[in-house]
Amino acid sequence: MSQSLLPGARRRVREPSSFGAGQLDALSRACGIPLRAYRPDHVAERIERALEREGLRSVADLPALLRRDTAARTRFRRTVAISVTGRFRDPHQYDFLRRTALPELTAAGTAPRVWSAGCSNGLELFGVAALLEEIGALDRAHLLGSDLLSENIDAARGSGLEAVSSRVASRTRWEVRDLTSDGAPDARFGLVLCRNVSIYLAPDARHRLVDMLASTLTRDGILLLGRSERIADPARHGLAHYGPNAYRRQA
Ligand SMILES: C[S@@+](CC[C@H](N)C(=O)[O-])C[C@H]1O[C@@H](n2cnc3c(N)ncnc32)[C@H](O)[C@@H]1O
Repeated sequence: MSQSLLPGARRRVREPSSFGAGQLDALSRACGIPLRAYRPDHVAERIERALEREGLRSVADLPALLRRDTAARTRFRRTVAISVTGRFRDPHQYDFLRRTALPELTAAGTAPRVWSAGCSNGLELFGVAALLEEIGALDRAHLLGSDLLSENIDAARGSGLEAVSSRVASRTRWEVRDLTSDGAPDARFGLVLCRNVSIYLAPDARHRLVDMLASTLTRDGILLLGRSERIADPARHGLAHYGPNAYRRQA
């Protein structure tokens, strides 16, 4: 299992169904992530990679490794919760925020409340903060960033990544939150960004996630998903289509 691949060779990924429910549950407990909430093919591929990386022969050996080796557990969690992000990633979405969503959200001096759900190291929320600053609404904004991985939240808080002004920092709160099992924050938001998280989730978990996100929106509040994420039937979640990958809460 730990053999290296020839350049260009394709890794043989086992069928997701070849991992038993008991194995998945044991692994979920060991890594602290409810793996059944994720797409079976994503989880299967992450398990195969972990077996190769850690030099294990069988998935049955993985939970014990993750329990005794903190670094291996961290590596596994990171590969399940993919943390790719970037400043102003998908510029057309930031154009939409700049031109349409944020001006509406801040009309008549309203205090904008924004949640970046699955915020990675915070660059997404810092991008929104920069746009709010442009339109003079940062000083009355309430910004929340949450993520599954505590190391992402530490990076966002410490923000060694970029020079975050003390004004942005003073408007921002960070928390660790598992979107598949921790429920909604105790607040309502005019804008929720949950980009590039649901693509890794199984259909049921995705449906529950959209319900949960929709429940945190104020009336007319906006939900922005990633550029490859769509809600098949927004009305089922009390939402209506609003813009590219964007939805709005109905009354
Ligand atoms: C691909 S990144 C996207 C980051 C950012 N939203 C963006 O689009 O630039 C996915 C993020 O979701 C987080 N994530 C994955 N599963 C999660 C879960 N169950 N609950 C909360 N965050 C999760 C990951 O840790 C990661 O930071």
